[in-house]
Amino acid sequence: MRVVLGSDHAGFELKEKVKETLTSMKDIVVSDYGTDNAETPVDYPDIAREVAMTVAGGKADKGLLFCGTGIGMSIAANKVPGAYAAHVCCEETARLSRAHNNSNILALGGRTTDHEKALEIVRIWLETPFEWDRHLNRFRKIQLFEEETGRALAGKDSTGRLVTFEHPLIKHKIGMIRDETTPVKVFRELVQEIAGLMVYEITRDLPLESVRVKTPITEAQAWSLAGKKMAVIPILRAGLGMVDGILQLIPNAKVGHIGLYRDPETLEPVEYYCKLPGDIEERDIYIVDPMLATGGSAAAAIDLVKRRGGRRIALVSLIAAPEGVEKVHSRHPEVDIFAAALDSHLNDHGYIVPGLGDAGDRLFGTK
Ligand code: PRP
Ligand code: URA
Repeated sequence: MRVVLGSDHAGFELKEKVKETLTSMKDIVVSDYGTDNAETPVDYPDIAREVAMTVAGGKADKGLLFCGTGIGMSIAANKVPGAYAAHVCCEETARLSRAHNNSNILALGGRTTDHEKALEIVRIWLETPFEWDRHLNRFRKIQLFEEETGRALAGKDSTGRLVTFEHPLIKHKIGMIRDETTPVKVFRELVQEIAGLMVYEITRDLPLESVRVKTPITEAQAWSLAGKKMAVIPILRAGLGMVDGILQLIPNAKVGHIGLYRDPETLEPVEYYCKLPGDIEERDIYIVDPMLATGGSAAAAIDLVKRRGGRRIALVSLIAAPEGVEKVHSRHPEVDIFAAALDSHLNDHGYIVPGLGDAGDRLFGTK
């Protein structure tokens, strides 16, 4: 286990005592981020940040912070996303902060905690595993909250992005599905392939957690997906054509279904079916539909998902028209739209130009 230590001048002596003990233990690799004496005052946030960044970034497994009380260190460390610092002053809270809260940093008071007691606290804290069962869901809620707060503070909640794709493989395949001579079977395969390729970009921000693995050669630090819950929601019927391509890469996603068709006269969406995962409010939601034309269907689908409690919603389309992007963003400004291609405009019948014609008919051979 890699343990990183840091203190200010007030926590220096306790840090040295703990370091001496840990250094003598096998299986623990200690790094000391200072400070190196008790006389020269230093600012605890500087040390807390370095230690917290190292742990949250996966370069150490655990962090130990020491200041006069441990309080300032824990407050500062907890500003780093991915740092879960517990200010502890007794053995029982040390155990519970690991077992129930999955803390990865321990903050102790050099002036408030007896040194022998502090050593016992550190021992218990390092030895206690996280009790995954009922506490995992609560811990994930903290991670979710952290992520949402970060997005809100960055102003992202009011400015959903339009992300288009420049990758040559995607461009090549989009060219093939536009071609009116492409047979139904090939068209269907291409739609799944493009949807799968788009997943790489769409999932770029998925959170990871640091894990230890044993390779045939040695032990190593590695990364594992932090178990984010996802839902893929196709708009029937054409959205179905994208689902398997996405599930190949994220097989644990739940699939909901929304049935909408466009009234050919009014071009307004008509709802005929809706079945969503029960825990939709906890999931990252990808509404999928190959065509974003007037945007009526997509905006109505997002309305529906929000009414059922969905909060983190993105729209994934193969071909979008500017009119559709405008409508979705005016009704749902926070929603990211991922479109493999952004086309020119709509014709008088509400079809995308140049587009690919009627996606449902081309997928299911119904024309
Ligand atoms: C198509 C497409 C979208 C909608 C887009 O579905 O799959 O759902 O049109 O148009 P809009 O942006 O103007 O709402 P359609 O209504 O043809 O139904 P289908 O999938 O059952 O063929
Ligand atoms: N629906 C389609 O399938 N294609 C379009 O171009 C517009 C709406």
